[in-house]
Amino acid sequence: MSTVTAIAGDNSALAFDVERIRQDFPILKQQVYGKPLVYLDSGASAQKPQAVIDAMTAGMDTYYANVHRGVHAMSQRSTEAYEEARTKIASFLNARSTNEIVFTRNATEGINLVANSYGRTFLQAGDEIIISHMEHHANIVPWQLLRDNLGIVLRVVPVDDDGNLDMAAYADMLGPKTKLVGMTHVSNSLGTIVAIKDVIRMAHDAGAVVLVDGCQAVPHTAVDVQDLDADFYVFAPHKLYGPTGVGVLYGKEDILNDMPPWQGGGDMIMSVSFDKTTYQKAPLRFEAGTPPIVEAIGLGAAIDYVSAIGMENIAAHEEGLLHYATDRLSRIEGLRIIGQAQEKAAIVSFVLDCAHPHDIGTIVDRGGVAIRTGHHCAQPVMDRYGVAATARASFGLYNTRDEVDVLADAIDAVREMFA
Ligand code: ALA
Repeated sequence: MSTVTAIAGDNSALAFDVERIRQDFPILKQQVYGKPLVYLDSGASAQKPQAVIDAMTAGMDTYYANVHRGVHAMSQRSTEAYEEARTKIASFLNARSTNEIVFTRNATEGINLVANSYGRTFLQAGDEIIISHMEHHANIVPWQLLRDNLGIVLRVVPVDDDGNLDMAAYADMLGPKTKLVGMTHVSNSLGTIVAIKDVIRMAHDAGAVVLVDGCQAVPHTAVDVQDLDADFYVFAPHKLYGPTGVGVLYGKEDILNDMPPWQGGGDMIMSVSFDKTTYQKAPLRFEAGTPPIVEAIGLGAAIDYVSAIGMENIAAHEEGLLHYATDRLSRIEGLRIIGQAQEKAAIVSFVLDCAHPHDIGTIVDRGGVAIRTGHHCAQPVMDRYGVAATARASFGLYNTRDEVDVLADAIDAVREMFA
C-alpha cells in the first residue's frame, strides 16, 4: 500500500512540499484539452491520493466480504477494517467514543437522519429551528420538510454584505422556542468560516441542540467536536480526499441513544419477531442494511493521509492560496468577489461584469482549469447577493500559486472575448 510521500518525518509547515503532494494524486498528471489539469473544484469533490485508491483496491481484492454478518475469515477482516475506519474518524474528530460515529451514505443523509429521527421525536408544532442564510440546500430542505410535516417554524440568520454571519441577529432569534440550530461551519458558496463555537455555546444557553454542517470545514482545518461541544457534526468524506458513497454523522452518544431508528433493516436490530423488534444502540441502530464497506475503508486511508501531512499544515498552505488568489483575482477589471468575510476558507466565488458564470466556466475549462459554476446548491445566498450564479474556485492541499495564475490568465482571456 502506498503512503503519503509529501512529508518525510517532519510535520512542520516548512516540510509542506506541495510538489511532492501532487505526486500522490494520479489524476493531477492528466491533461485536459492539451493543457495540464488545474483542478480548482475541490469544494464540490476532492481528488484522491494513491493511498486511498490502494486501500480501496485492497479492500476489494484481498479481504472483501460483508461486515458484522459472517464468522468466516474474509468477513472478520472486512469487519475489522470497517470498524478501524470508525476508530480513525473518532480520533480525527476527537469524539469520546466510536459509538458516536455513524456511517451514512453521504453528508446529506446524515442531516436527514437527524431531522427525521431527532426532529420528529423531540420537536413539535410551534418549536423553532434556526439556520443561516448561507446554508447549502442539504441544510435547508430537510428542515423545511420537517416544518411542513410538524408545523415548526424555520428562522434564518442573515449575513452581512461581506458574508459574515450576523451574530447580533442570531442572539436575538434565540429563545425558549428554539429547539435546534442547524449551521454550516464553512459556507460552500462564500467561504465564510462561522464562529461555530460561539454559535453552539449561545444555542446551548438557550437550551437548543446544534447540528453543524462541516462539509467544507473538515478538509481544511482540524475539527475537535468536544472542544466545539457540537451535538451533531456531519461531513462528506469525498471532500476530504476520500471516496463518495459514504458520509459521517457524529452525534453525542447519549443523544443518539435517545433517538429512534429512522430506517429499518438488517444489522440495526437486536431481535426481530412479528410482534416486537428491539434495536441496537448507536451507531448500529442507524446503519440499516449493508453499509458502504470499501468506502469507509477508503475514508480511513484518507484520514491517515491528511493526518500524516497535518491539518495545521494544510490549513496554512490553503490560507496562503486564499490570500494570493483573492489579491490576484481582485485586480481583474470587472471581477467582483462574492464573500469577503473576515474569516474565510480557501473558496473564492466571483462574477464578471461581462460574462455569465457558465461562460466563464466553459472557457476556462478549455484552458484546463476546472471550477464550479452555478448556484452551488445555495440558491438563497445567491438571492442575497443579487446574482443567479457565481463562478467558484475552491482550493485543496494540492493546489499551487502557479495554478492561481493560470486561472487569472484564463479569466483575462474571458474578458478579452466578452468585454
Ligand atoms: N456541496 C458541493 C459544492 O459545494 C457539491 O460544490
